[in-house]
Amino acid sequence: MTAARAGRVSGHVFIGASLDGYIARGDGDITWLHRQAAEGEDHGYAAFLDGMDGIVMGRGTFERALTFETWPYRKPVVVLSRTLTSRDLRPGLADKVRISREPPVAIMKTLATEGWKCAYVDGGKVIASFLREGLIADLVLTRLPVLLGDGIPLFGSLANDIELRHIGTTTYPSGFVQSKYQVL
Ligand SMILES: NC(=O)c1ccc[n+]([C@@H]2O[C@H](COP(=O)([O-])OP(=O)(O)OC[C@H]3O[C@@H](n4cnc5c(N)ncnc54)[C@H](OP(=O)(O)O)[C@@H]3O)[C@@H](O)[C@H]2O)c1
Repeated sequence: MTAARAGRVSGHVFIGASLDGYIARGDGDITWLHRQAAEGEDHGYAAFLDGMDGIVMGRGTFERALTFETWPYRKPVVVLSRTLTSRDLRPGLADKVRISREPPVAIMKTLATEGWKCAYVDGGKVIASFLREGLIADLVLTRLPVLLGDGIPLFGSLANDIELRHIGTTTYPSGFVQSKYQVL
């Protein structure tokens, strides 16, 4: 597909946070999140991922995923990093992951030329930078019933307010409260 014919890629967020607004402990630990997730309930994650062409994530999220026993994604993954290169990818990931140093607008244009329409955007800093650039269409935010007190914040600082429309909220027996917002 040529750049001229490519449409836009919309960014979509699906993220879990503690009630006090952290997506991970300061050292990146997310075992509290996995511990809380109830067996057999994915809170709509698989259905969300089915609608995505692939995942755009920050280096921080990528490095955490590398600590899992098995690579957790079936869809193509683009890792945004100005410090990693494709040479840093371990064997077996080269056909699943690519490293890009393109800024948010540019990588979304590149992915559009490759036929992507919907990108799952993940990682606190990366989500914040995509929000700032107006590249996020909607957010599914799941609040977990835990207070961490400190950690990596869900959203970073913004130069301007970003108005959202509340689409709906689902409460789960696990105590997870999931809200969907459209970015206006
Ligand atoms: N609770 C959840 O649902 C959830 C979801 C996702 C992630 N997490 C956790 O959150 C932690 C990672 O989040 P994070 O906020 O620290 O990092 P992140 O957003 O995943 O990655 C940030 C890094 O990405 C690179 N980068 C490249 N382009 C960027 C851009 N335009 N904007 C921002 N960063 C860019 C930079 O690394 P370079 O220096 O290499 O350029 C930057 O330091 C991990 O522990 C992960 O497990 C939790």
